[in-house]
Amino acid sequence: MDKLRVAILGATGVVGQRLVSLLHRHPWFEIGGLYSSERHHGRRYGDVVEWILEEEIPESMADSRVYRVDPEALSPREYSLVFSALPSEIAQAMEPELARKGLIVVSNSSPYRLDSDIPLLVPEVNPDHVSLASLQEKRGWRGRIYKVPNCTTIILSMTLKPLLDEFGLSRVVVSSMQAVSGAGLRGVPSLRILDNLVPFIEGEEEKVETETLKILGAIEGNRVRDPGFRVTASTHRVPVLEGHTLAIFVETRKEADPIEVARVMEDFKPSYLGKSLPSAPSRPLKVRREEDRPQPRLDRMEGKGMTVVVGRIRKDKALGGVKYVAMGSNTIRGAAGNAVLIAELLVSGLNSFSA
Ligand SMILES: NC(=O)c1ccc[n+]([C@@H]2O[C@H](COP(=O)([O-])OP(=O)(O)OC[C@H]3O[C@@H](n4cnc5c(N)ncnc54)[C@H](OP(=O)(O)O)[C@@H]3O)[C@@H](O)[C@H]2O)c1
Repeated sequence: MDKLRVAILGATGVVGQRLVSLLHRHPWFEIGGLYSSERHHGRRYGDVVEWILEEEIPESMADSRVYRVDPEALSPREYSLVFSALPSEIAQAMEPELARKGLIVVSNSSPYRLDSDIPLLVPEVNPDHVSLASLQEKRGWRGRIYKVPNCTTIILSMTLKPLLDEFGLSRVVVSSMQAVSGAGLRGVPSLRILDNLVPFIEGEEEKVETETLKILGAIEGNRVRDPGFRVTASTHRVPVLEGHTLAIFVETRKEADPIEVARVMEDFKPSYLGKSLPSAPSRPLKVRREEDRPQPRLDRMEGKGMTVVVGRIRKDKALGGVKYVAMGSNTIRGAAGNAVLIAELLVSGLNSFSA
């Protein structure tokens, strides 16, 4: 098939750079436009981006021009799909404007994530939620918005899905240790985070506690049913560059033995099985048996950054279930990689899932 032309909004930021890296040689998509704020308008991407990724800037992209995001100038005739990595306050006004004009937007930003007509997608967990997007017609939009969940929530919900299906869940307690790249290029000043830990990330705990329930709820008619368990979260910024680590404590409805838990996690297969998506990792979850894994520096690139690594699965005597540690790349699995996987799901599943 001919490649589909896509645009990246927020292309100079942390998530935007990951999108450039994941899309510049993508078999289905071709980057047709890079957009950021007014201050870089018309300039060469390689000259304005503060590139922070391990690999070099793709040469073809370095020579491209960056333009300011202007909804008037973006059209569905030009782009089959738009990836948004805009700050929330900008996305809040701009994304509905793009959808109204007929553009398909796959967005990393937080506004509208909990709206009942906006799919909040982790493709391995809830691909059928794509169908909610058809309700967006009632807003008068010709296009659609699909949301990438909060990064910590993606990692958590991927590990909870097989446990929910096999044992049932009643309570989940999660404590996160989140990397500085999660706060964006200008996010956390080094004087605040080096030799330190910040035990507060604005809005994060609420996102984890609410978004997890939407992702893991089953579709019933046109709505998502509450999955019947509760989540409580404490979130913390730590001096790690990349990779969020979560200590998770789970009360299950049926007794869960740690060996069984490891087995169901290892056997976890995406429910879109049969569709072969280029960015899907061969296994969404990897279980490590060493007593000191997962670790962000060693494990964050598992499955090219798309696999969540789980370890230290053990009995939880207080909650009556299990406890374990999970770790995933916040900028790939928790953002850009999940966005690309959503786009692949939309393109591959046009008959079964799309609006
Ligand atoms: N970092 C993560 O791990 C992560 C994970 C999940 C979700 N997210 C979400 O993804 C989005 C991007 O996060 P990030 O970490 O990549 O942030 P970032 O590094 O701060 O990048 C922000 C991007 O938005 C652009 N921008 C800023 N103001 C703009 C404006 N007025 N008009 C148009 N573009 C503007 C910036 O362009 P300039 O260079 O021109 O300023 C830059 O490209 C946020 O909504 C964030 O919450 C981030």
